[in-house]
Amino acid sequence: MKAEDIKRILIIGGGTMGRQIALHFAMQGCNVVIYDIKEELLSKALAGIQKIAASYVRLKRITQEEAQAASARIKTTTIAEEAAKDIDLVSESVPEDPVLKGKVFSLFHSLCPPRTIFTTNTSTLLPSMFAEFTGRPEKFLALHFHDLRTNTVVDIMPHPGTNEETINVVKSFAKLMGLIDIILKKENSGYVFNAMFAAFLGSAQTLAANDVASIEDIDRSWMGVMNMPIGPFGIMDSVGISTAWMVTAYWAQQTGDAQSQKNADFLKQYVDRGELGQKTGKGFYSYPGPSFRQPGFIAGHNT
Ligand SMILES: NC(=O)c1ccc[n+]([C@@H]2O[C@H](COP(=O)([O-])OP(=O)(O)OC[C@H]3O[C@@H](n4cnc5c(N)ncnc54)[C@H](O)[C@@H]3O)[C@@H](O)[C@H]2O)c1
Repeated sequence: MKAEDIKRILIIGGGTMGRQIALHFAMQGCNVVIYDIKEELLSKALAGIQKIAASYVRLKRITQEEAQAASARIKTTTIAEEAAKDIDLVSESVPEDPVLKGKVFSLFHSLCPPRTIFTTNTSTLLPSMFAEFTGRPEKFLALHFHDLRTNTVVDIMPHPGTNEETINVVKSFAKLMGLIDIILKKENSGYVFNAMFAAFLGSAQTLAANDVASIEDIDRSWMGVMNMPIGPFGIMDSVGISTAWMVTAYWAQQTGDAQSQKNADFLKQYVDRGELGQKTGKGFYSYPGPSFRQPGFIAGHNT
């Protein structure tokens, strides 16, 4: 199969990511089917897609007509047999559970044509953990998206059993779809960006948990030197401190690393107070109008 032949895409799971991915492919002219387990979830997915499309129109990224044409290319179903019909590429976005992902791929292996390429959008798992359940490991790899509302970067990560042809077709297809493709030469937890990002946030947490400098000064340092509008603690407020805590606590437990545990305990204090960041109006900063957005923050005039 050539990249140009990929016209019909199946999105498995119409949640946060499935919606964004479905809309992106539809905006690029592909016919998209979203499969999920309940009709009401699919109705919610379609409503969510309308909202994202409307925001793209407001931002003048697409016209009203283009938004309508893209929406018309998206169909939904809870019937797996219907979903699998004549599909060229599958993009899986079900919850982060290797057993569930394995089951879903195994089901669709029995229903999709032999030519269909299977991709997973997993954030933290490795494709090799469930490659055998796809029934076609040579035609399977990770095609991982970030937040398509703000960027089009994708990680393309094969597992040791993926064949070269599949890697090349997916690379070319990503380019055709207007995606910025980052190619991994081998499996790596956290791909490329997330691996760097986790280390960056972890270093900032270590500085604060060890009381080396204040939260504001850690952010001012990053913002001042790198000429950035936001620092690591501003970013954690935006991601949500409970998410940052959960990830840090999980890895502290997995690795037994004492500093990671100290960092998790540091974040937990905020979680226990209900100070989760931007969404609760308070985290490391107060919202709206956090001090790091005010003029003079980097110069230290309002810290
Ligand atoms: N949310 C993010 O920022 C983000 C970013 C990149 C990658 N990811 C990854 O994408 C995947 C999905 O994440 P999400 O945030 O969209 O999750 P989500 O919970 O918002 O959506 C998951 C969807 O999968 C559906 N689902 C559950 N079981 C199913 C099944 N058996 N068959 C079909 N659909 C089923 C659910 O009903 C739900 O609609 C995860 O692997 C996650 O790690 C998430």
